Amino acid sequence: MKKNWWNGKVAYQIWPKSFCDANGDGIGDLQGILSKLDYLQALGVDILWLSPIYKSPFVDQGYDIADYYAIAEEFGTMEEFDRLLAETKKRGMHIIMDLVVNHCSDQHDWFQKALADPHGEYAERFYFLPGRDGGPPSNYRGYFGGSTWEPVPGTELYYLHMFAKEQPDLNWENPVVRQKIYNMVNWWLEKGLAGFRIDAIINIKKVPGFPDYPVDGPDGLASCTKMVEAAKGVGGFLQELKRETFAKHDAFTVGEVFNMKENELAEFIGDEGHFSTMFDFSAHELTFGENGWYDSKPLRFEDWRRTLFAAQKKVENVGFWANIIENHDEPRGVSRYLPSHAQNEAGAKMLGTTSLLLRGIPFIFQGQEIGMTNCRRTDISQYDDINTKDQYQVALDAGCTVEQALEACYVNSRDNARTPVQWSDAPHGGFTTGQPWLAVNPNYTTINVAEQEGREDSVLNHYRRLVALRKSAVYGETFTYGAFEPVWETEPDILAYLRRDEAHTILVAGNYGPEARTVTLPAPARELLLSNLGREELPAGTALTLASCESAVILL
Ligand code: GLC
Ligand code: CA
Repeated sequence: MKKNWWNGKVAYQIWPKSFCDANGDGIGDLQGILSKLDYLQALGVDILWLSPIYKSPFVDQGYDIADYYAIAEEFGTMEEFDRLLAETKKRGMHIIMDLVVNHCSDQHDWFQKALADPHGEYAERFYFLPGRDGGPPSNYRGYFGGSTWEPVPGTELYYLHMFAKEQPDLNWENPVVRQKIYNMVNWWLEKGLAGFRIDAIINIKKVPGFPDYPVDGPDGLASCTKMVEAAKGVGGFLQELKRETFAKHDAFTVGEVFNMKENELAEFIGDEGHFSTMFDFSAHELTFGENGWYDSKPLRFEDWRRTLFAAQKKVENVGFWANIIENHDEPRGVSRYLPSHAQNEAGAKMLGTTSLLLRGIPFIFQGQEIGMTNCRRTDISQYDDINTKDQYQVALDAGCTVEQALEACYVNSRDNARTPVQWSDAPHGGFTTGQPWLAVNPNYTTINVAEQEGREDSVLNHYRRLVALRKSAVYGETFTYGAFEPVWETEPDILAYLRRDEAHTILVAGNYGPEARTVTLPAPARELLLSNLGREELPAGTALTLASCESAVILL
């Protein structure tokens, strides 16, 4: 496999609206990010992924872009962005941004022109189609609920939107659209961006004629993913995109890819793949419900372990995953993956350890490094997220009580990850001096950066040691390129694996159970590289006892 500049890097996702507010308007901004660059450097991360900062009406929090060449006023100016680029470069760090090109905002100039002339050339940049049998062109349900088709005012036409109706899908079959997108991507890369996280990209290929699929819900619609799964030829678009843009700049790209066909992994992330890497969502998919959040499933440790290991094995001769425990679309990892007895600092450090040392490129989501948790709300009005509002309604429509619907949101809501970063125990977690756009998690008084900063055994300081170990001069190669080998796969509660190359064999192990467990090391322990419980000594023989919630990284 080819070696690339990004293979040994650690990435960090910033969700700008909730990261740090420098001017007191309650909204995170570029100045806020600038003020925290030293903090990020001290954490040891190399690549910063900024979720969308483009001009947007924020119907889907910036994933609805009105101008791809402009910074949202809420976040700052292009001059500030250029400063941010320069300052990160100074610190040896890189910036990647979100590339959201399956759709744009209905406020984008192209769409406004399309509405003004629904049979003209701008309408051809979208999917404007006549209805069928007095209704929309097909029976698809969008990702945020309701039909994917919205009437074009004053016409018999409908336009397609896989996400919110304010996010019309761009027509990738139109060469003008593709060329304009490539120009835009190159413009940012020439500015000095290191690459992109590529949003919802599987959706760009549609099935010609938009056939109906069998109804799969009480709303009489069929999930639009049925069409996505049936679509053929997305690779053609993705290879062209790569050739025209990323390849010319040696850019790092990470795809958000759901519903990929089984045998396409190498096409996506092999040496000649469409992307440098893509997120491994296989563990996340374990808790998905059949019908929505209200019937999401609890996580079983054995399933999680088996799924993680299978994903690692699947990719070993192909490429590298991007590994996450959470992002802006997911609940917090510590609330999702840790059993209740482990929802504490030791558990957060253990989860970080066993996740960051997997083979692949680790992505830390803001606040993960201090163990931020899900946030309970008592009324749906306290949520902002469009997806959460839809899923709340889906739950009520399915017969859930208000309490049950709120519980489903507590467990699954995207707003769990979107509450402001907890910098200190000052009002609103020190995120803003004003009123935050989304209320901070009340546990900021105990979980915050300032408290953890100086405390040796904090989650934050553990993450610093963990990132440093992963990138260390001695073991960095092994953690980056070394093989992944599961150990004690049938042992209850233990998640453990080896990272191994010619130079080193390193054991990474965590005990997720409520009791201590003793396992037999495959070889004598030589050195303890990292402990989450302040362990200093290793056993002389090969019997290793791990306390509940204990993790250890051991050189064998
Ligand atoms: C991706 C983003 C998500 C957004 C959606 C539509 O899944 O991660 O936040 O809502 O695409 O752009
Ligand atoms: Ca602000």
